Amino acid sequence: MPNVYNWQIGREMPYPFEGARPTKQFAMIFDTNKCIACQTCTVACKTTWTSGRGQEYMLWNNVETKPYGYYPLGWDVTILDQLGVQRMNGPVYSGKTLFEAAPAGEIVLGYQPTDEDYANPNIGEDDSTSEMAQGVWMRMPHMQWMYYLPRICNHCTYPACLSACPRQVIYKRPEDGIVLLDQHRCRGYRECVKGCPYKKVFFNPMTRVSEKCIGCYPAIENNRQTQCTITCIGKIRLQGFLATPEAAREDNPMDYIIHGAKIAKPLYPQFGLEPNTYYIPPVHVPPPYLRQMFGHGVEEAIAIYRRASDDRKLLAAMLLFGATNEIIHHFSIEGNRVIGYDEKRAELVRVPMTEPTYIREAYDARFD
Ligand code: SF4
Ligand code: SF4
Ligand code: SF4
Ligand code: F3S
Repeated sequence: MPNVYNWQIGREMPYPFEGARPTKQFAMIFDTNKCIACQTCTVACKTTWTSGRGQEYMLWNNVETKPYGYYPLGWDVTILDQLGVQRMNGPVYSGKTLFEAAPAGEIVLGYQPTDEDYANPNIGEDDSTSEMAQGVWMRMPHMQWMYYLPRICNHCTYPACLSACPRQVIYKRPEDGIVLLDQHRCRGYRECVKGCPYKKVFFNPMTRVSEKCIGCYPAIENNRQTQCTITCIGKIRLQGFLATPEAAREDNPMDYIIHGAKIAKPLYPQFGLEPNTYYIPPVHVPPPYLRQMFGHGVEEAIAIYRRASDDRKLLAAMLLFGATNEIIHHFSIEGNRVIGYDEKRAELVRVPMTEPTYIREAYDARFD
């Protein structure tokens, strides 16, 4: 098996295919501190792409309440248990990836969820941790935190779904890194469903072939951000293109937030897929939990995020979340404005970096 370099785990690892990075890599950043679990993104994706027969249970975009919520049930704890609940404590991961932990004769360590695992889209959502008696407002003896985790396919650099398919039905587009599944060639083997640790491939029982998030590629090809991004009520999402740390550009907001300020982290980097959705970790959650979920550097990320206004450039990049429907490739600061540009440096949007503040008089004679 060839060795490929995975920058998220800081080392080489075996992967069944030669590494070939796309010209541009589709990527997304979610600010978990701003998500309100309104599920507008979920519904936007559903009504756009998965309202057909056999797609009823599919949620290409979902938002789950951590630590209890899952879709499908227990997707992350199940694979973490199989892998040995490995976490990244430093920039180089010393445990096994899912490719390195694969059983003999298989490409990747995985499991097939049961139909019941898809019965509840977010079981335990916003529940308190114990039974509630009449008249009791809230009792949370064991757990005093929760947060919302939006999820889509990560359009991984080293996709397990792609490598697990015996027919090589799944492919990664060289022009933008979007991972697609050719439904005409699919024979319904479901090795992709078993192999994807994020459980973002769904089998359609009516057509007998699998389906997955398509990264809204018709929109991407027209420089428009994805449906789940542009409909986000909380403006918690930024979608664009990400370079590797070595090729990062100072004026790309995705590169700056992820590689420059380092405040957005991948989901379970220890799996070894180099996923391309990134999360600004929730500031109120215990660090050991966050380290397991988002890898090394979460405490530093939170500290920088808390002081985002000290770094004008970071503040500027953060203000571009939800500012336009189009994909921002470059940004600059002019006076009190952050400006977003398209790939050819045509201006797309201007956002004020500070708003005027009006302080009311302490005394108002009208109320005498
Ligand atoms: Fe494939 Fe899953 Fe990665 Fe998406 S998240 S590219 S479905 S392995
Ligand atoms: Fe759905 Fe498009 Fe978002 Fe994928 S990128 S989850 S297809 S809306
Ligand atoms: Fe969260 Fe935005 Fe989705 Fe609402 S639309 S659940 S704020 S990601
Ligand atoms: Fe391959 Fe998955 Fe279809 S394993 S054949 S893409 S169901």
